[in-house]
Amino acid sequence: MKRIAVLVSGGGSNLQALLNAAQNGQLPHGQIALVVASKPGVFALERAQKAGVPATVVARKSFANTAAFDAALLEELQKENIDIVVLAGFLSIIGPAVLAAYPGKIVNVHPSLIPAFCGDGFYGLKVHEAALARGVKLTGATVHLVNEITDGGKILLQKAVEIKPDDTPETLQKRVMEEAEWQLLPKAVAMLCAGEM
Ligand code: GRF
Repeated sequence: MKRIAVLVSGGGSNLQALLNAAQNGQLPHGQIALVVASKPGVFALERAQKAGVPATVVARKSFANTAAFDAALLEELQKENIDIVVLAGFLSIIGPAVLAAYPGKIVNVHPSLIPAFCGDGFYGLKVHEAALARGVKLTGATVHLVNEITDGGKILLQKAVEIKPDDTPETLQKRVMEEAEWQLLPKAVAMLCAGEM
């Protein structure tokens, strides 16, 4: 049984998709053992509490620099014997210490079809604003391994979502979450726990 940590920074809808998947028996080889928030008071922490999952805050801004944050995050993960790390709307950078401790074991969900609309500065609604501004007909979500390059790791799963003529960034974000992110992330995590990728 692999022990999974989910790292969050906001609403936690992707965390909720994972919690629901676990509840529905879709993560047979994994257990969501820890939620780590990069700042206090985010709704994702309420979701963890409701699900009875231990949670902690490792606030980036309470550390002098990235290296100290990286060390503190690693300490939390190792304390809980974590095997797999899932970034679910996590907005802080994963440093070299955590990356080195979890080779091929850290996944991220990004709300576009990488390599489009990704990299530094492309997160949350900004991704969908860029897709609408470019006028693409298809967007979607990508689950990828995390390395030292923002959104640069091996692509594991992708799913396309059609853009509608009257879409706003908000309506598009919602559809990409519902039709792609919340489907792909649990599937990728289940495969990673089963050693299938
Ligand atoms: C999602 O759009 C996700 O793709 C991106 O950040 C957002 C997080 O949303 N990485 P939530 O906190 O999971 O609701």
